[in-house]
Amino acid sequence: MENFKLQAKTFFGFETILADELRSIGAADVSIKNRLVEFYGDTGFMYKANYSLSTALRILKPILSFSVKNENQLYERFKKFEWENYLSIENTFVIDATVHSSYFTHSHYAALKVKDALADRFQQKFGKRPSVDKIKPEIWFNLHISHDKVTLSLDSSGESLHRRGYKTAHGKAPLNEVLAAGLLKTAGWNGKGNLLDPMCGSGTILTEAALMAANIPPQIHRKHFAFQNWKDYDEILFDKIKETRLKRISEFSGKIVGFDINPTVLEIAEQNISNAGLSDFAEVFRKDFFKTEKDLFPVLILFNPPYNERLESDNEILYKSIGDTLKNNYPNTFAWFITSDLSAKKFVGLKPSKKIKVYNGKLECDFLRYDIYEGSKKASKT
Ligand SMILES: C[S@@+](CC[C@H](N)C(=O)[O-])C[C@H]1O[C@@H](n2cnc3c(N)ncnc32)[C@H](O)[C@@H]1O
Repeated sequence: MENFKLQAKTFFGFETILADELRSIGAADVSIKNRLVEFYGDTGFMYKANYSLSTALRILKPILSFSVKNENQLYERFKKFEWENYLSIENTFVIDATVHSSYFTHSHYAALKVKDALADRFQQKFGKRPSVDKIKPEIWFNLHISHDKVTLSLDSSGESLHRRGYKTAHGKAPLNEVLAAGLLKTAGWNGKGNLLDPMCGSGTILTEAALMAANIPPQIHRKHFAFQNWKDYDEILFDKIKETRLKRISEFSGKIVGFDINPTVLEIAEQNISNAGLSDFAEVFRKDFFKTEKDLFPVLILFNPPYNERLESDNEILYKSIGDTLKNNYPNTFAWFITSDLSAKKFVGLKPSKKIKVYNGKLECDFLRYDIYEGSKKASKT
């Protein structure tokens, strides 16, 4: 099968990790862009990328690229485009647009023009046109305009790939699954040893960690990808890709443990872990992190503490308690946490050994690493 260009989107800061993931599953000519990694592969590889990557948000297949400087030219060029090769009258579709251009100032308007061109072409050729469905379309198009350069892609994923299919209930501030996977990979989680999320909420970090530890494809529970609605969808090929990938699931001998003080979120965590079929790999306990001691050796700690928008003094107490607990009760540990409170590190009372900028949605966050040694308590006092 022939190789073509593909693009995997991700969050800011995870491009290198995604590029590594892509290379590890056999992508060709991988190159890193801004929140995007470009690569080459064939149809089977595109299926595999959707099924296997844990840090990609969606996989795009560019199908048309040209330059224009106004909306009329945009409309005319797209009216000539052979849309009928990609969708039929009976299909529903959507066009998602991102525009960074002084020629086209409204992404919504540009998308509307492209939609009109598609509809008018169908109307003239077949006397009927496919309809738009913004919620559950069958065919997802992605329009990208940068200056005068227009690219139309087919979105092979459809719904964002963070929707793995295992989360049926949510806690208050659940972490995005792709963000959790990216943080785990950044922290060097390789499924060896043990992992503790001492403020686990609905258990996203635990679930993603367990999927990685047992080498389970992150989309094992997902029901649908947009490429399954394409005219050239090859079901036998996709079944083969899944079968080959599933053979690589491995044993995991470590422990993945979560604590939380809130019994309601713990029920949600248990439900999500069980939906993901990971109850043998990950366990949660109702515990106050600040009253616990290290009982897993070795252990990697990774968590996202609650974000308190109310009072700075509340955050001061929270981060001081985190620092004290790590220093006093978790010697010889690497601990990472993500926080959108950029002054949090002032209160921890330990110097982070790493500080990485990441985003949780639109919020800029610090992802901080603390190296806790036996002597940290003494060192921080002196
Ligand atoms: C931002 S949420 C974590 C969200 C989680 N990563 C997820 O994906 O759902 C923070 C969690 O910390 C818990 N928490 C706050 N203080 C705690 C403490 N002292 N010990 C354990 N858990 C605590 C809260 O109950 C809340 O569920």
